[in-house]
Amino acid sequence: MSAPNIETIVSLAKRRGFVFPASEIYGGLGSSWDYGSLGVELANNIKKSWWRWLVHERDDIEGLDSSIIQNRQVWKYSGHETTFSDPLVDCRACKGRFRLDKLQDVSCPKEQSANAGSGKECDLTEAREFNLMFRTTVGAVSAEDDESALAYLRPETAQGIFINFANVLNTSRRKLPFGIAQIGKAFRNEVTPGNFIFRTREFEQMEMEYFCRPEDAPRIHQEFIDAFQEWFYSLGISAENLKLYEQTKEELAHYAERTVDILYRFFPERDDEEKQFDELMGIANRKDFDLKAHSKKPEDREGKRINTDSNEDLSYFDEATKQRFYPYVIEPAVGVNRTLLAVLMDAYTEKTNDKNETRVILKLKPELAPIKVAVLPLAKNKPEIVSMAKDLKRQLLPAMRTVYDDTGGIGKLYARQDEIGTPFCVTVDHESLEDNAVTVRNRDTWEQERINVSELKEHLQKRLN
Ligand code: GAP
Repeated sequence: MSAPNIETIVSLAKRRGFVFPASEIYGGLGSSWDYGSLGVELANNIKKSWWRWLVHERDDIEGLDSSIIQNRQVWKYSGHETTFSDPLVDCRACKGRFRLDKLQDVSCPKEQSANAGSGKECDLTEAREFNLMFRTTVGAVSAEDDESALAYLRPETAQGIFINFANVLNTSRRKLPFGIAQIGKAFRNEVTPGNFIFRTREFEQMEMEYFCRPEDAPRIHQEFIDAFQEWFYSLGISAENLKLYEQTKEELAHYAERTVDILYRFFPERDDEEKQFDELMGIANRKDFDLKAHSKKPEDREGKRINTDSNEDLSYFDEATKQRFYPYVIEPAVGVNRTLLAVLMDAYTEKTNDKNETRVILKLKPELAPIKVAVLPLAKNKPEIVSMAKDLKRQLLPAMRTVYDDTGGIGKLYARQDEIGTPFCVTVDHESLEDNAVTVRNRDTWEQERINVSELKEHLQKRLN
């Protein structure tokens, strides 16, 4: 059984220190969240898995970390200044502000028009476009005084990759096909953020732009669609909670030839099965739009340079065919936060113990678990037991994230570790002092085994990998 709804995860996340509402002591800040000690470990483990799988295990992908604030021209030529907007409407009755294309999903904040989409009381204004980029200024001037000071917080990591295409190509001496991968924060002034960490104004993306010959793009696109489903399975997400969605012609971004979204069952409580699913990631064939858009070379039909600000031609010269062209781009774009939410929802299970109490077990894949092993002393007032447990923690730590915990009775400690997804607990008891053995408890089965300390590390390592 996965989590019955997002609210169950919100409550677990807060209770156990995965995610907290941001600025909480000042009343919060609409849909902003902070990641606690377990949340940051889980997010890091997801990012590590993505990076290792794409950048380290393949040999055709380079890494990059570009700036959040770039020259404003980046967003002019990418099209974000003119097209990265949502259509907004206001309700004159309830003063609510909604996205025109999402009216059916929202509730009126004042309830006069209980559902903005269907409520007859709704008195909507004409739609107007609202640009989602956060504006800022660079230097000690305001944008009102000096337009040239205007800059944006990046709304996606992708453009940082396109504008570095020539740098990476020249320094890595790559030939097509190859990819550039980046993980980093992105910012969008979303009109209707919500559903916990599903849609927020500040979030993190893992994006990879894969450059290839135009004729290879459809095949490579399909390969990444298949590969990313496998990657989600490897994170423990079950196939029944994932679904592919082929964007229709009307939905496709202006630059995209084909986009397939991988959806996750984020809203299992909804009656309509189709509405239970929403976007986890998108995999787009962006054609040669971006490299062309940022190049100084391309001309329009009248022979006028389209980009008058770029100093670089981002075309590619193929030594074999002696042809110069703009590579096509396949872009798998994943949200860290949505992946974390999907991982938590899918790992959530409940089990009843022999006292008929319901316990939460977070069946995280060991690779993702924030803590791999918890060493627990059975009697914390016995110095020899405490000292042996602390020693064990130190011995295991270089190989696996291990914690020592003596903050409660053994039943409570086991329950806590189950709830945060720790695959193994190691208990040191009175007998351990005699036989140099400890009890290893399995999170998922609650089975316990007696293992000699000399074999403990290897025993755990085998099971964690
Ligand atoms: N470069 C392409 C691009 O940015 P996108 O579909 O807008 O595509 C990619 O974003 C992924 O980033 C989404 O599939 C989602 O996982 C995540 N994402 C986008 N907007 C988000 C938001 N407001 N909050 C949380 N995650 C978001």
